[in-house]
Amino acid sequence: MSDNDTGARAGRELVRLTGVGKTYGTSRALHGVDLTVRAGEVTCVLGDNGAGKSTLIKIVSGLHRHSEGELLIDGEPARLSSPRDALARGIAAVYQDLATVTLMPVWRNFWLGSELTRGPWPFQRLDIPRMKRVADESLRAMGIALDDMEQPIGSLSGGQRQSVAIARAVHFGARVLILDEPTAALGVKQSGVVLKYVAAARERGLGVVFITHNPHHAYLVGDHFTVLRLGTVELSEPRERVTLEELTLHMAGGAELAALKHELARVGGVDTGSLPDAPARPGESGEGERHDENAEDTPGAPPRP
Ligand SMILES: Nc1ncnc2c1ncn2[C@@H]1O[C@H](COP(=O)(O)OP(=O)(O)OP(=O)(O)O)[C@@H](O)[C@H]1O
Ligand SMILES: [Mg+2]
Repeated sequence: MSDNDTGARAGRELVRLTGVGKTYGTSRALHGVDLTVRAGEVTCVLGDNGAGKSTLIKIVSGLHRHSEGELLIDGEPARLSSPRDALARGIAAVYQDLATVTLMPVWRNFWLGSELTRGPWPFQRLDIPRMKRVADESLRAMGIALDDMEQPIGSLSGGQRQSVAIARAVHFGARVLILDEPTAALGVKQSGVVLKYVAAARERGLGVVFITHNPHHAYLVGDHFTVLRLGTVELSEPRERVTLEELTLHMAGGAELAALKHELARVGGVDTGSLPDAPARPGESGEGERHDENAEDTPGAPPRP
């Protein structure tokens, strides 16, 4: 399964969740969630704290089992028993707290747990020149040029470290790449670095699941947007059917903001002009009422690259 294979079939369904739910003891973290991951697309999962985003991707990446619903991989019902099992099926997750060894060089981290050796058993030795060369090539293929593969990974910026983890997942054959809030702890410039590699992974034909709180980051790279609220899907729309403004409103909790506007207006001295009056909620508006023409007006709303 090379990444060229997947790239050739952009749009192909890689993973599908239907009616997926998860209960932890007696508390229900997810209920009735549908999500599709396609080759060559970025699926953004947004939602407030505790909305169920991490739970959802832990199910897809084999860390947790779902309690209800169905998980399909390449159209076949599947049950993943571990992250290793998921990886064997081409599903890789990169977490916020990256499992890197900060004092080890970049190339060592790239190969961690999968080191290349040379020589016959039992006289094998690490094939250091080859590991360095292949790591460098893989990073460059993703557009990441590091001056020195010997520098400790801890000396890289947060964005660069995320990027190395993305390149690593691509190198080890991931077809589905799950990123749990890769930009959460980063500034504007570093977030831009990570978003660039999210787009690069998509260009290579991977299906990317991008979890974020930030609708602006999501809208820069997303092809499909799923907003979770209290464990259920509040919005699920392709890029053509949702504007950045709508996405922001959903993420901000439109109803809460409208109430806040009312409150703040009474206090005075606060400019409430930019706050919404009434939130647009899916299901309330009839089908076809979405203002697609707004998409062109939305600042920072590029057509799908
Ligand atoms: N291992 C667990 N045991 C019990 N409850 C859990 C567990 N993991 C998550 N939950 C609960 O499930 C719900 C969803 O949590 P989850 O971590 O998926 O949310 P999230 O959207 O990722 O939030 P955040 O933005 O804070 O990361 C929360 O109410 C949380 O308390
Ligand atoms: Mg989370």
